[in-house]
Amino acid sequence: MTPTRILLIGATGQVGWELQRCVQALGTVIPAGRQQSHRVDLTDPDSVRTLVQATQPTIILNAAAYTAVDKAETEAELAYAVNAQAPGILAEEAQRLGALLVHYSTDYVFNGQQCHPYTEDVPTQPLGVYGSSKLAGEQAIQAVGGQYLIFRTAWVYGRRGHNFLLTMQRLARERDELRIVNDQVGAPTWSRVIAEVTAMILAQLYSPFSRLEMPEMSGIYHLTCAGETTWYHFASAILAQGERQPRLVPITTKDYPTPAQRPAYSVLSCAKLQETFGVNLPSWDQALALCLAN
Ligand SMILES: NC(=O)c1ccc[n+]([C@@H]2O[C@H](COP(=O)([O-])OP(=O)(O)OC[C@H]3O[C@@H](n4cnc5c(N)ncnc54)[C@H](OP(=O)(O)O)[C@@H]3O)[C@@H](O)[C@H]2O)c1
Repeated sequence: MTPTRILLIGATGQVGWELQRCVQALGTVIPAGRQQSHRVDLTDPDSVRTLVQATQPTIILNAAAYTAVDKAETEAELAYAVNAQAPGILAEEAQRLGALLVHYSTDYVFNGQQCHPYTEDVPTQPLGVYGSSKLAGEQAIQAVGGQYLIFRTAWVYGRRGHNFLLTMQRLARERDELRIVNDQVGAPTWSRVIAEVTAMILAQLYSPFSRLEMPEMSGIYHLTCAGETTWYHFASAILAQGERQPRLVPITTKDYPTPAQRPAYSVLSCAKLQETFGVNLPSWDQALALCLAN
């Protein structure tokens, strides 16, 4: 059997960083990115094709993305190049090699008007450029077909990178009062949970005893921590564990205008993931407690 070669794009990101550790046991990991020795710039289609052809992976993990939700409103071309065109090219190159492409997408593909968890078959309607570009990436991969897993996740945080947890911890040190939006509902998801679940699923797929076959399992799966909360309650849970506790004031989205509109409710149902791969995801507050204790 050919040894598994795992090309990890976006190894410096929140999810990519955790993936690098979690998938080590599954094969040889080849980290790639703008600052890695395996260099790739996702805005440059030639660099994407060259990377895949030079490294000949069995699995491509694409944890790279343009993730600046507000900035995307004025950098649509860049967001589309990274989030839409590059995933399509990766899918083409993966298919050429017979490799599996694992890609991540977002809860922001939905309009947020529903008030119960979104399943994978609910029609999408992104509210901003970031969500639209991520949706276009999903569609580009699906149009190519082959072996792919698209994991839609949400509200990602961890102990490194740019995220809500680290912002709240910094602001708690700097300010006496924080005004936090309390009318957007979602599921905060620790980057490590995403990486561990990805690794568990890959271990199942590549097990000689697997009953799961590719490309039959190809598709979109929702992958978030369980439960739901608002940014305000998420902030309360973060700060409850901190040394300094500023006063938290709940506000509405209208009180905090941003360039990009965000869905009011974007909780994802992970039932398909659980039924297909038998994985149970921790609740967002359990995962947060583990992350903070880490
Ligand atoms: N963050 C969230 O709240 C959230 C929510 C839902 C879904 N997601 C999805 O989850 C996945 C992982 O997100 P994340 O939060 O881990 O991302 P992140 O921390 O923002 O990291 C993004 C990664 O993409 C790389 N990247 C950006 N532009 C690139 C380019 N032109 N060429 C090569 N690499 C480039 C960055 O590399 P550099 O170090 O070179 O900048 C970095 O490694 C993404 O698909 C994202 O859309 C995230």
